[in-house]
Amino acid sequence: MAFSRRDFVKTSVLGAVAAGVGTLAQGEELAAQQHESQSSSYKRPIIIAAHNGFNYIEDPYTFLKNGGDTLDAALRVVKGPEDDPKDTSVGLGGLPNEEGVVELDSCCMHGPTRRAGSVGGMRNIKNVSLVAKAVMTDTGHVMLVGEGAERFAVARGFPRENLLTDHSRKIWLLWKEYHSNNDWWGPGLADPRWQAPQEQPEGKPQSELWRERFLRLEEHAADLGIAPELRREAVYKVLFPPTGTIHCSALNEKGEISGCTTTSGLAYKLPGRVGDSPIIGAGCYTDQDVGSAGATGSGEENIKVAGAHTIIENMRHGMTPKEAGLDALQRIVRNYNHDMKKLQFVDMVYYVLRKDGAYAGVSLWTGYEASKPHQIVVHDGTRRVENTTPVFQAFSHDFPPEPKLPAEVKKQFE
Ligand code: GLY
Repeated sequence: MAFSRRDFVKTSVLGAVAAGVGTLAQGEELAAQQHESQSSSYKRPIIIAAHNGFNYIEDPYTFLKNGGDTLDAALRVVKGPEDDPKDTSVGLGGLPNEEGVVELDSCCMHGPTRRAGSVGGMRNIKNVSLVAKAVMTDTGHVMLVGEGAERFAVARGFPRENLLTDHSRKIWLLWKEYHSNNDWWGPGLADPRWQAPQEQPEGKPQSELWRERFLRLEEHAADLGIAPELRREAVYKVLFPPTGTIHCSALNEKGEISGCTTTSGLAYKLPGRVGDSPIIGAGCYTDQDVGSAGATGSGEENIKVAGAHTIIENMRHGMTPKEAGLDALQRIVRNYNHDMKKLQFVDMVYYVLRKDGAYAGVSLWTGYEASKPHQIVVHDGTRRVENTTPVFQAFSHDFPPEPKLPAEVKKQFE
C-alpha cells in the first residue's frame, strides 16, 4: 500500500521532518545523509556498541588495546548491562515473559577462529553472553536452548539466581492488571478498590481516554508499592512494552574481529519466544574476512531478513558499512510492501564494523522521539555516541498499535 502524506501526518509523530517522508513513493525511501566513516585510514582498535554500552566500554577498550582478545573485549562490554539490575532489557532485572519469568537470549562469534555459540530462552542465569561463549568453547554444538542450556550453564559453574528483580516483578504485575478486565488478576469484587467497568460515552476524545489510562495505572502502581519516582517509567513500560538489547563488536590492531549480542527480548512475550539476538546471522554475525554486525529492535523482522548476515554479505560485495546496513533495512521495508501504516510500528537498529575499522550505525527510524534518537556508541581512543543514519527521518510509533498518545497528554505525563 502506498503511503500518503495525509496518513503520515495523521499517524506519525513528527510534524516538520516527517513532511518529507510522506511524499515518498515505493522504492524512494530516504537514506538520510549522515556521518559515514569516509577516511581511508580508519582507527584500530575500535569497539562499537548499542547505546547502553556507553558506561561499560572504557575498560574493555583498554583491555583490547593491551592485546586482549576481541570477543572477550566485546563480552566485557555487554556483561555491564547484564549485571545491572536497573537495565530492564538485558540479563538481571530484564522484563519477564507474560508468565513473569525472565528468559534470555544471546549469541557470539569469534572471528579469528571462525567459531560461534548461542543460547536461547534461557532462565535463571544472568550472564547468558558468557554461556554462549562457553557453548562455543566447551561443546561441539553451536546453540543450546531452554532447560538444556540452563543445565549446561550450571554444570559449567554459572550460578543459578532469580533474575526477576522486585522492580521488574511489579512492572509485570502492573502489566497483568492493565490487561485484566477479563481475568482474575487485580482486585476482586470483594475488594474496596474494585470498580465497575465504566461506560465510555460515544466520541470521548482520545486525549481523555489516555489521561484516564495513565491515572488508573499510576494508582495501580502506587497500590503495588512502586516508588513514586519510578511510577511513570513503569507505566510507560506497561503501555509500550520495550524491546531492549545490547550488541557489541570489537576489532583489534591486527584486524581480528568478533561480536556478541544479548537480551531479555520483548517484554511480556509468550513463554518460549526466541528473538533475533541468539540467531547467528540475525542478531549478530562476524566474518573475519569482512567485518561484524549486530542488531537491536524488532527481532521478528530482523530474523526474516537475516539482518547481520545480509550486512556482512553486502560489505563482502563492496558496499560501505552504511550502505550495507541501509540495504538490510530496505528489505524490511520491502517485506511490508512499503506500507508505512505498518512500518511505523517496526523499529530496527544495526551496528556495523568493517574489518578495516570503518563503521556505521543505521536505523529504520530516527528514534522514538526528538529527545531519544537512535545512537551508536564508539570507542577508538575517544569514547562517544553518534546518531544513527535513518531510512526514514521521522519517529517510530510504539507497539502495540494503540491510537497515538496525544502530545498534550505525553507532556502532562512525561
Ligand atoms: N531484538 C531483541 C528481540 O527482539 O528479542
